[in-house]
Amino acid sequence: MTPAPRLDRSGIAARLMVAMALVLVSAALAAWMAAGAVGPGLFHRHMAQAENSPGTAVEHAESAFASASAVTLAVALSAALLTALVATIVLARRIGTSLGSLSAAAGQVAAGRFDIRLAQPHIGAEFDELAIAFNAMSARLDQDEGRRRRLMADVAHELRTPVATIAAYIDALEDGVQDLNAQTVDVLRAQTSRLTRLATDLAAVTQAESGALRLDEQPVAPGALVEAALSAARGRADTAGLVLVGEVAPDVPVLWVDRDRIGQVLGNLLDNAIRHTRPGGQVSIRVQRRSPYVRFTVTDTGEGIAPEHLPHVFERFYRVDTARDRAHGGSGIGLAITKALVQAHGGTIVAHSSGPGRGAQFVIDLPHG
Ligand SMILES: Nc1ncnc2c1ncn2[C@@H]1O[C@H](COP(=O)(O)OP(=O)(O)OP(=O)(O)O)[C@@H](O)[C@H]1O
Ligand SMILES: [Mg+2]
Repeated sequence: MTPAPRLDRSGIAARLMVAMALVLVSAALAAWMAAGAVGPGLFHRHMAQAENSPGTAVEHAESAFASASAVTLAVALSAALLTALVATIVLARRIGTSLGSLSAAAGQVAAGRFDIRLAQPHIGAEFDELAIAFNAMSARLDQDEGRRRRLMADVAHELRTPVATIAAYIDALEDGVQDLNAQTVDVLRAQTSRLTRLATDLAAVTQAESGALRLDEQPVAPGALVEAALSAARGRADTAGLVLVGEVAPDVPVLWVDRDRIGQVLGNLLDNAIRHTRPGGQVSIRVQRRSPYVRFTVTDTGEGIAPEHLPHVFERFYRVDTARDRAHGGSGIGLAITKALVQAHGGTIVAHSSGPGRGAQFVIDLPHG
């Protein structure tokens, strides 16, 4: 993690205040110095003139005072003007430079350069905050663009294999190299259903992640959800030689959820657990009350997940063992859909595993009441 940028705490108002104070101080200093330098000489000259000229001493004193004041005022005003000019140029140049680089950077971001970052101008907290907000915006855009590219690449990659297989079979059939027998039809059907599933999964994950998902929420007993998920998975568990266990604590409250969506969530988790556990192993769902949540824990005694893969398993298209998981028919979208569906219900899901060979555990907390 990058350290939080240091914020310049003094704002632009403080800086303007300092500039004004500088103008005042320089005017006062100049007035004081001018009065000290010019005043005594002027008075002295007028007093000397008063001795041998008509006019009263008072008149001479008044005119000496007027001249000294005029000179002092002129010097003070010039000093104030000069300081104001310098302060304005310095401030305007720094603000202008920083706004210039901001609009140049905004232009580059608009043109698709999301790696652009602004340096903090250090001319006031407001400007530093603006630079930090701008950098956060372009970093987010950068991240989204990266995700979009990866998604496109992944989709293209997923499409390539089944489409290439279908095309090769069609060529072979056309050339008479291959007969249109049951085995050929099976291969073609498997590849098309893989494409159909990919399309359905992509639509589901996009819809769930965009928040556009409509949930048909109704009161459901957690026991009924577990029962339905277990009976749907029982056939596959038997074929895989696994023991399937369900356990619902007696005090769990009724949930207000979309029955089909939560069914899909549990189905995905059971499907993964069954696929990644060797014959003789066990797959279980446990439900407990953890107010204000109801906790569903899907545990298996299978191959487990290495710590470096754990944080990524919920990403779209992420597969720990790409080649093998694809051979199982998985495209790595199941857990992304699962997470989006759980979050759409206001819940959370986390994956745990003590490492390869030590089983995996997925814990879902859904809010009740
Ligand atoms: N119970 C589990 N035990 C071990 N690894 C698991 C388990 N569940 C998921 N994984 C790993 O996480 C990856 C992502 O799972 P996910 O369900 O998203 O994709 P998939 O099962 O490969 O494909 P899909 O669900 O789209 O058919 C899997 O490929 C697998 O490597
Ligand atoms: Mg899966």
